[in-house]
Amino acid sequence: MKKLYTLILAAGLGKRMKSRHPKVAHKVCGRPMVEWVVRSAKAAGSDDVIVVVGHGADEVKSILSDDVKFAYQEKQLGTGHAVMMAKDMLPDEGDIMILTGDTPLITSGTLKEFYDFHLNEGNSITILSSIFDDPQGYGRIVRGSDGGVLKIVEDKDADEKIKGIHEINSAMYIFKLDYLKKSLEHINNNNAQSEYYLTDAIEIVKNMGGKIGAYKVHSEEIMGVNSRVQLAEAEKVMRKRINERHMLEGVTIIDPDNTYIGPDVNIGIDTIIYPGTIIEGNSTIGKDCEIGPNSRIIDSEIGNGCKIIFSMITESKLCNNIKLGPFAQIRPDSVIHDNAKLGNFIEIKKSIIGEGTKVPHLTYIGDAEVGKRVNMGCGSIVVNYDGKRKHKTTIGDDVFVGCNVNLVSPVKVNNNAFIAAGSTITDEVPDGALAIARCRQTNKEGWVEGRRKKGGL
Ligand code: UD1
Ligand code: CA
Repeated sequence: MKKLYTLILAAGLGKRMKSRHPKVAHKVCGRPMVEWVVRSAKAAGSDDVIVVVGHGADEVKSILSDDVKFAYQEKQLGTGHAVMMAKDMLPDEGDIMILTGDTPLITSGTLKEFYDFHLNEGNSITILSSIFDDPQGYGRIVRGSDGGVLKIVEDKDADEKIKGIHEINSAMYIFKLDYLKKSLEHINNNNAQSEYYLTDAIEIVKNMGGKIGAYKVHSEEIMGVNSRVQLAEAEKVMRKRINERHMLEGVTIIDPDNTYIGPDVNIGIDTIIYPGTIIEGNSTIGKDCEIGPNSRIIDSEIGNGCKIIFSMITESKLCNNIKLGPFAQIRPDSVIHDNAKLGNFIEIKKSIIGEGTKVPHLTYIGDAEVGKRVNMGCGSIVVNYDGKRKHKTTIGDDVFVGCNVNLVSPVKVNNNAFIAAGSTITDEVPDGALAIARCRQTNKEGWVEGRRKKGGL
């Protein structure tokens, strides 16, 4: 197998994004655009990936994994100039795929076909081209009377005749490295934009006797993102791809237009996703779950048979058959064990909830370990913060916590204990004990009548 290198041009600012961040760092379905391109190149069989960075170089570098190399282009003097900046990092033989960092929709499948075509044709340069109804703004592929590619002319340098050509340059190419290197020496900036155009390499190589070809694709894959409007269009296409992949793998998505699943999410079969659900980051959802409507899950692991309604989960783990919500929040570092039931308006933070435990309504549990089969009454609160520091509370198995109880941390409640409603617990509760920590009730007979007579009511 011959060696395939990839060069990704990503030094531009992307003015039309109106952003403080470099264009290629903007995300499509949660993944930076340039990372989509790097992954497609690698999946297409590219051995070595070099990214040309310039604007926001540090930010772009921090996004990408360690096996990507970088070339630096201080001033953006054109696409040809960007390639020149990487020249010394490139070997003299083999093929190089040149891509841009702002085309997140390009797939490894298309790149593979493109590379196969290039090899089969024995081309010196193959251009990935397309036919656009409205080719305005793009470089045009100029063909000779025999149909062969002669050159690319940029829109800004084109006369009326060339502007009438509908075959456009996607700015993705495969070059034989020896031809690329030789042609770079001849590229100049005598054009309408005073830029070093990589596209000039086509005519240069043609004149050197090289063989030029174009591989035509008809799809949104080559769409470049230049503005936030196009970013949203790309997001829509990518979202559809991701959702369709899950549906074909056995997941029901009630309304794919209103379901947002990140590229690294795994979902088990027969899970149903209701509208308004967002699942992001490194999240895994098990089998037979019902997720949503209107729930957001970030970097979390959800087991099998869970039902999550109108809720938010971050960096946590829910085991199997958990019922959560509506309107619940699970904050980072929480683990909810099997068959637990967590109802409405509850918040769990950095806590462990034991198997079969019920937290049905209006409860806050923070920095706590709650045992098995515990019942947390309505409005019960773990008072974990003293204004300066957080403290830990431990609740054993089979504990009954009455309504409106405060557990002032650090405190321990042992197995089988029973805490009376309205208690504020500050001391350890022994195994099997009833703890009451509130004033006794006093009834003043006839008090209302007396008050009325005095005119007080
Ligand atoms: C380029 C092509 C054009 C093609 C179009 C497709 C040239 C001269 N023209 O035009 O034929 O139809 O893409 O979208 O190549 N970049 C750098 N350094 C630079 C200049 C650009 O890294 O000095 C990067 C940009 O960050 C971007 C990519 O190269 O990712 C394309 O540059 P851009 O200025 O957008 O080229 P176009 O004018 O769109
Ligand atoms: Ca562009």
